[in-house]
This record gives sequence, C-alpha cells and structure tokens, in this order.
Amino acid sequence: MDYLKAQGVKTLNGTINISGAKNASLPLIAMTILANNEVTIKNLPAVADIKTLLKLLTNLGATVDFLEDRVLVNTQPLHETKATYDIVKTMRASILVLGPILARFGHCEVSLPGGCAIGQRPIDLHLKALEQMGAKIEIKAGYIEARAPEGLTGCNIIFDKITVTGTANIVMAAALAKGTTTITNAAREPEVVQLCEVLNESGVTIEGIGTAVLTVHGTSGKLIDFKEFAIIPDRIEAGTYLCAGAITRSEITLTNVEPKHLGAVLAKLEEMGSTFTLTEDTITIHPSKDIKPVKIVTQEYPAFPTDMQAQFLALATQADGTSIIEERLFENRFMHVSELQRMGADITLNGHTATVNGKTQLGGTDVMATDLRASSALVLAALVASGETNIHRIYHLDRGYDSLEKKLEGVGAKIQRLKE
Ligand code: EPZ
Repeated sequence: MDYLKAQGVKTLNGTINISGAKNASLPLIAMTILANNEVTIKNLPAVADIKTLLKLLTNLGATVDFLEDRVLVNTQPLHETKATYDIVKTMRASILVLGPILARFGHCEVSLPGGCAIGQRPIDLHLKALEQMGAKIEIKAGYIEARAPEGLTGCNIIFDKITVTGTANIVMAAALAKGTTTITNAAREPEVVQLCEVLNESGVTIEGIGTAVLTVHGTSGKLIDFKEFAIIPDRIEAGTYLCAGAITRSEITLTNVEPKHLGAVLAKLEEMGSTFTLTEDTITIHPSKDIKPVKIVTQEYPAFPTDMQAQFLALATQADGTSIIEERLFENRFMHVSELQRMGADITLNGHTATVNGKTQLGGTDVMATDLRASSALVLAALVASGETNIHRIYHLDRGYDSLEKKLEGVGAKIQRLKE
C-alpha cells in the first residue's frame, strides 16, 4: 500500500490545474447505459472511483476506449443486468446504474451498497421513487432485484430528503420512462445540473434544471443519441487546494475551475481572512495575514458543502480563536478529528458539532486516512505541521483526487508517495 510523506512548508506558490469532477463523472458514466450510440466523454478525472465504474460497465458487456483526451463508452453490447457485490462494495455510487439499467432492460440486480465510513448511506429514497414509477423491488440475499417489464411510467415524485445520487438515478430512469416525471425537492448540485443539461441537449426535454423541481419528459424507451461532452471542473478538488493556499498563507492560482460553483466556499474563506482574484475560469487566492475563526453548518448546494467540512476543520486549527463546525448530512463524518488531535489539534466533539480552538502548532506524526475527504484534511494539516507527517491508507485519497501529491509538489509542497 502507498503512503504519503510530507514536511511542513513555509509557503506554497504557483498554479494548479483542476481536473474534471468525480461526482459529475459518475452519473454521466452511468447515463451511457441509456445511449443509442458510442458516447464521447472529455475531461474525465484519473481517479479510482471512475475506473471502478467503467470496470463495472465493462463487466456488464460495455466497451470502454481510453484515448488521449477523451474516453469512448459503448453500451450497445451490454448484455448483463447484475451489478455484483465485489464491485459495488468498493464504491457505493455504483447504485447509479440501477435507474438506467432498469429503464433500459426492464430488470436489474444491484448489490446493496452497504454503508461506508462516513455513515449508513441508505438508498430508500431511490427505491421508493422507482416503485412509484412502477418498478417491483425486492431485497434478496443482499441484492436489490428490480423489475419493470412494461417499462417505467412517469409520475410526481417528492423526495423526503434532498439526495444527490437519488435525484440523478431518478432523472436517468425518467429519461426513458413513458410520460412525464416531476421531481420535487430535487438536488441542485452542479453535478446534477450537468447530467440534466447533457440529457436535455441530447433530446430528453428537462425543465427546471438547477432548481428544486425538475420535469423530465421521457422517451418511452427510445434510446438516446448523446452529443459529446466535457466533465465540469471538480469544485471540491478546487476548494481543497484553496484551503491549502489559506492554511499555508500562500498565493495559488487554480485554472480550469468554475468560480460560480464555489460561492459558499469562497464566502467562508473570505470570512476567515482570504482574498481572491477571479476570472471566468481561474481563482487566485492571496496570502492572508491572520486566519480568523469561523462558524460552518454543512447543507445541500448552494449552501456550504459537506465534502469541504474536513478540509475547513483542518484550516480552523490554524485560526486565531474558536471555530464551530456542524455536520448536518452524515452521521459519522468527523473521523479526521481523532487524527488531527494526534497532531496536537485542540478539537472537542459534541454530537454533530466540532469546536476547534486555534491557533495550534501541529506536530508531524503517523496518521491514518479513513475516508476520501478526511484524507485531504490530513494532507492540509501536514503542510503546516512541524516535522514530518506520514499519511497511511491513501487509497481513500486516490478515490477522488487526481495526482494530489504531484499537484501540491508543483506549487512547492514537500510531499512524496512511498510504498509501505
Ligand atoms: C453524494 O452522495 C456525493 N457522492 C457525496 O460525495 C456527497 O457528500 C453527498 O452527495 C452530499 O452532497 C456522489 O455524488 C457520488 P445523498 P449521496 O444521497 O448521493 C440521506 C465525496 O466525498 N439519504 O445526497 O450518496 C443520506 O443518508 C462523496 O465525494 C437517505 O436518507 O448523498 C444523507 O444524510 C461523499 N436516503 C443525505 O440523504 C436515500 O435514499 C444526503 O445523501 C438517500 C440519501
């Protein structure tokens, strides 16, 4: 297994290119199951979760060709409709194939994804919506068995909770359904917006894109000819590197980024003392003299994203004063806290709220990554810790960050990937 060895640095400086968004790529790859043609996808990030989902599609019979600057996915040869446990257990977002396979073939078996480190991660809302669209769903021996031999029928769906992959799953199922589906309390994340835009541009009329009420006009089973598309920039990767700039009081420019997807993140960094220069596709963070404490509550987009909570918690250890960070989406998304405490951070956990007293001089030591975003928080802490930090189990990091240590090395970080 690999691990990262990092030294605390004075400051960083330079430019980091942002990769395509993991959480936009996953639904758009699943969407190719609805295609009548070979689909060309540009700007896919080279991260483990994307490789996993593409492998799942090839296991089902699809072909995937990796070219220089694009990936060609052809699901015409698809003949399998069972997503097995061995793959699904490694990436719960595999649940995204449920809606498309069911809509296209009228039956589908997907291993129950199970929970993950940050929480139980139920999929009840996905299943309830598909049943409303006419699917018969049973859970047998750890598998979801879904049937809709006459195809799915559009209807009015109201999500009890805002669910990102739940919204994506139902949008894709509704795209091939008979009639119209309205989804109320839909997720508005940019990644869901891109899925809707790509479908809409390829002939599936969707109204209300970017709002909490989506109306999808289904094709009644007719497969879709998709135009080629490029994955939007990864706003969470971008936010992570902005935190790297803030925590080391550096000037860093991000390129190929979408500033309008980072409103809540930029606002919180400004509250903490950072200043920025923005253009259409770049963000430059300027060094701040002091880091001010902050209050954060994680909520659905466009509010502050849960996927940035761990990174800001690491940053808050360097603020002069007490920060309060409340995690409202997941029940166990503070596992980075114990590792940061081992580096000397002064953090108190009370249920879903972390109280962080700063500024603390962190000390390098051996730490263990537990989940994707917790891993990046440990990297941020290592950038300002005295001495050396070894971050173990970075397969978590590799699920969602494309060449993180290389990108940080490129702006002066002392960080290398070694073998245990
Ligand atoms: C997506 O997960 C992201 N993953 C997560 O990013 C992100 O943290 C999360 O949305 C919230 O923004 C992908 O897009 C692949 P949800 P998802 O369904 O869709 C509850 C990362 O770091 N819920 O929006 O699984 C659920 O328990 C990952 O990149 C139900 O109760 O999240 C949670 O409390 C981590 N029943 C809340 O809704 C359901 O059927 C939001 O979950 C579905 C969800």
